Amino acid sequence: MGQNIKGKVAYVTGAGRGIGKATVLELAREGVDIGLIARTESTLNEVAEEVRSYGVQASVAAVDISDLEAVDQAVEQLKKEIGPADILINNAGIGSKGTLLESDPDEWKRTFEVNVFGVYHVTRAVLPHMVEKDRGDIINISSSNGLKATAGSSSYSGSKFALQGMTEALMQEVRPNNIRVQTLNPSLVATELAFGDQLEESNADKFMQPEDMAEYMVSLLKLNQRIFIKQSLQWATNPF
Ligand SMILES: NC(=O)c1ccc[n+]([C@@H]2O[C@H](COP(=O)([O-])OP(=O)(O)OC[C@H]3O[C@@H](n4cnc5c(N)ncnc54)[C@H](OP(=O)(O)O)[C@@H]3O)[C@@H](O)[C@H]2O)c1
Repeated sequence: MGQNIKGKVAYVTGAGRGIGKATVLELAREGVDIGLIARTESTLNEVAEEVRSYGVQASVAAVDISDLEAVDQAVEQLKKEIGPADILINNAGIGSKGTLLESDPDEWKRTFEVNVFGVYHVTRAVLPHMVEKDRGDIINISSSNGLKATAGSSSYSGSKFALQGMTEALMQEVRPNNIRVQTLNPSLVATELAFGDQLEESNADKFMQPEDMAEYMVSLLKLNQRIFIKQSLQWATNPF
């Protein structure tokens, strides 16, 4: 039997567009209150308005997840406004292309600061409340590049492989606290990250849509809490 997620609180990073936006709207339809995190406040406010139209609460924290102290403050703010998170979707991430030698060192480093340290910062701020409650769900959005690297993706793949390792370790650490931790590893999804400003003109409709990811995540969250907690590590990774 599945579980009802209505009335839960979810924090979603990268909630301003793409997969994050689709996910907060899908969660709102299910009656989940949402803490929206990303850097651009105006975009987050627009999405928050849409979220509220489903009759749930929405709270916005405009923050760069690569900044540890700012993340701590943002999570404190969300906690005060809508309560501690039952669900955390670590979705915010950036793409980066180029061979190792061609890559700009600052961009290479930045990819890790957002895709790895960003997830670490948000998770360490949110996790204590889940441990206190002895319950929780964390979904980290990795990538197919986090399982199999391709030429020209050393920083992106490297960061997603790191996220994979971090997730598998955390999954085992918090399993006794009934906290499920998973990664999802999609390949191409029709968003700005993958298609840039060509999203409208390209044949993006042939690829997975952000709404497909959102629907899948909600179906995972609705699975009985025992599932994954008692299963082997292989369940931590969900291949697309
Ligand atoms: N699209 C794909 O093909 C694909 C495939 C596999 C995996 N993924 C992964 O899926 C996740 C979402 O990707 P997407 O395609 O939906 O990307 P997207 O459309 O570019 O959206 C990224 C979101 O993250 C936010 N963000 C970026 N940097 C941030 C930072 N430093 N601090 C806080 N928020 C930040 C952005 O808002 P602001 O710019 O306002 O901060 C935006 O809301 C990423 O982790 C990505 O690696 C995507």
